[in-house]
Amino acid sequence: MKCVGIIGVGSYVPTNIVSNRELEAELDTSSEWIRQRTGIEERRIASEDMDTSDMAIIAAKNALRNASLDASQLDLILVATTTPDFLFPSVACIVQEALGVPNIPAMDLSAACTGFVYAVVTGKQFIDSNTYKNVLVIGSEKFSKIIDWSDRNTAVLFGDGAGAVILSEVSEGKGILAFELGADGTGAKDLLVDNKTNFVTMNGREVFKFAVRQMPESSLSVVHKAGLTKEDVDFLVPHQANIRIIDAARERLGLDKNKVSTTVTKHGNTSAASIPLALFSEIESGKINDGDVIVMVGFGGGLTWGSICLKWGK
Ligand code: UT7
Repeated sequence: MKCVGIIGVGSYVPTNIVSNRELEAELDTSSEWIRQRTGIEERRIASEDMDTSDMAIIAAKNALRNASLDASQLDLILVATTTPDFLFPSVACIVQEALGVPNIPAMDLSAACTGFVYAVVTGKQFIDSNTYKNVLVIGSEKFSKIIDWSDRNTAVLFGDGAGAVILSEVSEGKGILAFELGADGTGAKDLLVDNKTNFVTMNGREVFKFAVRQMPESSLSVVHKAGLTKEDVDFLVPHQANIRIIDAARERLGLDKNKVSTTVTKHGNTSAASIPLALFSEIESGKINDGDVIVMVGFGGGLTWGSICLKWGK
């Protein structure tokens, strides 16, 4: 079996920062409520002329540079998103054109906030099977376009951004050690984009209950699948939705607060972009280093969940 890992990371967040205070002025909410109940302090909101593919392209170029790889060496492009520019063509095809790599397959994958984990696992299968060598996986979302900005239940939670990774074969013992994917369609109604309004609607309490159960469970289970124990885990990169949900996963793994990513404070929930954005941020700040065992874990609409246990490095 091949060892498949991440050989490059990149990200992009819009420059426009929207603070809790600004939302307080527009909605029946308070800066304090948002911070205490979610951990979010601010989020990035993309401008009118910047769509999901524009952010995806910048993140992808950064990841290619980070991997010292030329776009022509890519064999497959996967984009996890719930906010594509169009119903079709896919964001992946728009990225392919922008990167100037004609003919290679490109597709979007929809698993809401778990989309990035699903896409990485999908990309890995193609490398494992000797079909492709280098796979570009992007999580990109312009969530602000499906938000009803008068609904305080959702408007305070989300943000825009993109993160990208390059998957490739890495040296023995490194890369993805184990993964777990799951879905429970009975919860589909709890988090969806309403066909009539095109806005997100959410049963926050139900999603919260699901998340505080599923995210810690999946984090631990993927570590065991890798043949490790929680003591072996160096860093946790969970989906960034709510600091209280993140804490539940962190506590289950018995990790200190400085061993978990909490970029939710600055980015809000960026759905499929949240894990790669958080990963990029932790690598940049030197918190994840060569040889570290990390767990990436997500949950979201579907309802879906997924986790990956990975030994960092090439
Ligand atoms: O990527 C997956 C996406 N979704 C999620 O991750 C969401 C998961 N759920 C959550 O993170 C939390 O459930 C929320 C942050 C959405 C809500 O926090 P909570 O502590 O579960 O609050 P709650 O739903 O129990 O509501 C408490 C109160 C309610 O008022 P009443 O009924 O007690 O009078 C809400 O109406 O807070 C009210 N509320 C707000 N108040 C001020 C709800 N949203 C707001 C708001 N500002 N923005």
